Amino acid sequence: MGIKISPSILGANFCNLEKDIHSLESHGIKSLHIDVMDGNFVPNIAFGPDQIKMLRGISKDLEFDVHMMVKKPDMFIEALVEAGADTITVHAETCPHLYKTIYTIKSFGIKAGVSLNPATSIEAIKHVKEMLNKVLIMTVEPGFGGQTFIPFMGHKIKELHELKMAKGLDFDIQVDGGININNISKVMELGANDIVIGSAMFEGGDISKTLAEFNKVVSKFY
Ligand code: DX5
Ligand code: ZN
Repeated sequence: MGIKISPSILGANFCNLEKDIHSLESHGIKSLHIDVMDGNFVPNIAFGPDQIKMLRGISKDLEFDVHMMVKKPDMFIEALVEAGADTITVHAETCPHLYKTIYTIKSFGIKAGVSLNPATSIEAIKHVKEMLNKVLIMTVEPGFGGQTFIPFMGHKIKELHELKMAKGLDFDIQVDGGININNISKVMELGANDIVIGSAMFEGGDISKTLAEFNKVVSKFY
């Protein structure tokens, strides 16, 4: 399974989105992580279907990896699919009928993921794991970019990777929150293969230079 870097658009300067998205594409990025927040499940508001549709107008080819941090994800699945989502990841904490929600996402012919808050056990996906294309381990509390990676999450990445290997499953293990040039090797060593990078991707202002630095580390894992 390949290693993938998914820049989180939340970390970009929203006045430069078109330029930044084209720059990411021209440097070989295939997946864009887009955070949807409702000011309810998390204490912040970000991207909804209308904005994602506009982003789709900028890029036809990027995989839109939509991370829903909303209290009622079922309400928005269809609109997000219509807007151009290729993967929809829901939080286990928000889904009382998780099987049904995953089933609904997949019935649109797109990929489904489940995200786990730092304190949520891997047990939460035990009975749906075979249906998943992605499991997202939150390595910060969701809601904001620019936070610090929670070190205990290393154990969780390892535990999930061991489960994946033991059961012969093929979901991506995504990590999101506080990933930077100093800890990206560690999370990949532990088994993560889909790496979301927000502030560390955009804050330097030179995507080309930043990606070259990340690619140098990531290439050791191919
Ligand atoms: C936070 C979001 C992340 C965020 C990551 O809740 O889910 O995708 O953009 O940003 P960094 O990499 O800055 O922690
Ligand atoms: Zn995210």
